Amino acid sequence: MSSLAVRGGTVIDETGARRADVLVVDGLVAEVAPAVSAEGARELDATGCWVCPGLVDLHVHLRQPGAEHAETVATGSRAAALGGFTAVVAMANTLPPLDTVAAVRQVRAWGREAGLCDVHPAAAITVGRAGERLVDFAALHAAGVRLFTDDGDEVADAAVMRAAFEATAPLDGAVLGQHSECATLVAGGHLHEGDVSDALGLRGRPAEAEEVTVARDLALARLTGGRLHVLHASAARTVDLVRRARAEGVAVTMEVTPQHLTLTQQACAGGDPTFKVNPPLRDAADLAALRAGLADGTVDAIATDHAPHPPAAKARPFADAPPGMLGLETALAVVLTDLVAPGVVDLPTALRALSWRPARIAGLRAAGHGRPVAPGEPANLCVVDPGEAWVVDGAALASRSRNTPFAGRRLEGRARHTVQGGEAVVVGGEAQR
Ligand code: DOR
Repeated sequence: MSSLAVRGGTVIDETGARRADVLVVDGLVAEVAPAVSAEGARELDATGCWVCPGLVDLHVHLRQPGAEHAETVATGSRAAALGGFTAVVAMANTLPPLDTVAAVRQVRAWGREAGLCDVHPAAAITVGRAGERLVDFAALHAAGVRLFTDDGDEVADAAVMRAAFEATAPLDGAVLGQHSECATLVAGGHLHEGDVSDALGLRGRPAEAEEVTVARDLALARLTGGRLHVLHASAARTVDLVRRARAEGVAVTMEVTPQHLTLTQQACAGGDPTFKVNPPLRDAADLAALRAGLADGTVDAIATDHAPHPPAAKARPFADAPPGMLGLETALAVVLTDLVAPGVVDLPTALRALSWRPARIAGLRAAGHGRPVAPGEPANLCVVDPGEAWVVDGAALASRSRNTPFAGRRLEGRARHTVQGGEAVVVGGEAQR
């Protein structure tokens, strides 16, 4: 029998907040009470901390198979656990892409081997992410996949997307995640089409490219009864479109990233490819609309789009560097520092978007994520020290890559302990494997 006593914290979950210790026995929460008695249990000090359901990230790139020099399932899992995440959804744009049951099972097995975080692979929508033939949705769904996505590229052909909605609509909990950038409108573009792209003399990616694809997919979801999840939304009009479609009964959810909630195109003004990402960082008005959408619940989830790229690739000129930013180890702190502390959103809203709503979207409540901290529930917990101040140092990150846009930022708040499946995988900010 293994047991843990998480002592001295404030438990916060979707049912509210209360001062309580948490006793974990054999993978399950055994007791939540002002003082638990626990002979022989490992003690985890949570004084001054929040004890929350583990964070759930709907959008990470773990790069294995095929780009292990950038990240592996093991290094990405360590970054996730250190960031307070107990479950992540791994994108399918690996080499080769995850488009078969065998490929998905392999990634899951690597995740179990690493033993730091539940790794739930997404599967592609189209074979090879080529945008033409649909994957075997039924087989992948039977193998446990819920989120299907060609992320990295949109599914450009509307008829293919319609057929994908028709095929997944009957599958319980299946959802199509779209990289909503109209491929022909962003072809050859490197950053938001606006002042900064003009100043740098680089081709831009207009916000309207997102609007076009989101509007099309909302129409197709309505037509078919399928479920749409808008990945990494970046533009103000996306929030409006989703808000209206949802009011009409369309089954749609959306996520935004910490970077799109806190940075604008101005970050690219110096030409530093660290700030190159697809969809691109946009205008202050877009950022404000994403924040408003988060506050009013239109935005369901904060997802990192953790996208590791090796230093050599990010050292190329802006136009030649790959898009993407790290996120797993900074997401919680950026949200607490830049959104919760200044009152943009309150803490329950932030945690809802970081844990229980994304767990629902990815069908991970059944796997024990994003659930209340209560007796009988699987013990997937994040113990947050809201007072820990730290400065982001790219070289100190557990990720195999270094491309954080927050290097040098002083942040406040950090995961002190992470408990995954009843096991303390991070203790005092240190990964245990
Ligand atoms: O910036 C991005 N990088 N956006 C994506 O959608 C894909 C990702 C990657 O895989 O590097």
